[in-house]
Amino acid sequence: MTCRTHQNRWRAALSAVLCGAVAALIMVASPAKLHAQAPAGAAGAGRGAVAPAEALFTSAQAVAGRAAYQQNCASCHGASVDDGNTAPPLRGAAFLGKYARKPAADLFTYVSTKMPQGNPGSLGAAEYARIIAYVLQQNGFATGRREFASDAAALASVTLPAPPGGRGGGGGLSAGVKLPPAPKKANPLDKITPVTDALLQNPPTGEWLTWRRGFDYQGFSPLKQITKSNVNNLRVAWTWTLSPGANEATPLVHDGVMFLHSPGDKLEAIDAATGDLLWQYARILPPGVNAGNKRMISIYGNKVYMGTPTST
Ligand code: HEC
Repeated sequence: MTCRTHQNRWRAALSAVLCGAVAALIMVASPAKLHAQAPAGAAGAGRGAVAPAEALFTSAQAVAGRAAYQQNCASCHGASVDDGNTAPPLRGAAFLGKYARKPAADLFTYVSTKMPQGNPGSLGAAEYARIIAYVLQQNGFATGRREFASDAAALASVTLPAPPGGRGGGGGLSAGVKLPPAPKKANPLDKITPVTDALLQNPPTGEWLTWRRGFDYQGFSPLKQITKSNVNNLRVAWTWTLSPGANEATPLVHDGVMFLHSPGDKLEAIDAATGDLLWQYARILPPGVNAGNKRMISIYGNKVYMGTPTST
């Protein structure tokens, strides 16, 4: 292992991470920010999970409701509940914006007294309940043991929750809305500059151009943002898996690009800020030739250099 000289404890920790695999660390300036992020992660983890006790209808109701919907509602609201030509979508943000977080009685009363348009109230109460179960299922609600009641008084005390995945409240798009194209992602390779002798002699503070960073072999970064007092705020920003095998090379960093040697004689260029792969090269070794361990790669001019065997 080449990572062994440590100036102090935090640098030892950083070195250990860089040696084991490749990981980028970010500074999180204020602990408040971390707090703000935590609930979002927690909600993401529970996405799609609706406890059976909270479910609003049974799967038998939804299955029967599907047939009844196709027969009585699809002609206007569409076969997929949101693709009708003459009636509003019964799925998505606009629909849920009206009915989610409200008493289930609102939806039941509306449908059972106004629909199907032209022949309102023509279906039995249980049939309306089944159709609503199917429509709710199409909006992402889970089935459970409780039946969707077929009378408005019982449904007055049942609240339609915000559906899993956050649809219904603020999230989701209204039908027919088209998003503009996403902005083009900046690629640091587009702006990468050649590595000159002068740069190698005197690397800019944010760069790591040679094995131990400079020809004095100190392996020391002059960057000052990470200090003893804030090192405990470091968090993993991204991780990258190297191909299996022994790895001893130190990553190089130039113009925001991290160059990595990966076992089996592979070279990878990663966006150092995001962990996105920008470029890669994999040597196809002659049959029976083992790439062996590599201590280092180099960068000079507009090329990255990697030693690789031609025969055993
Ligand atoms: C003949 C066409 C037609 C049929 C059949 C029909 N609907 Fe509708 N439905 C409409 C129209 C038109 C509206 C919009 C009414 C309005 O805005 O006043 C509507 C509105 C709705 C709404 C309110 C949507 C919203 O965004 O507020 C629901 C819920 C609904 N229908 C459910 C059903 C169900 C369930 C059935 C089958 C039992 C059904 N409809 C059958 C035409 C139809």
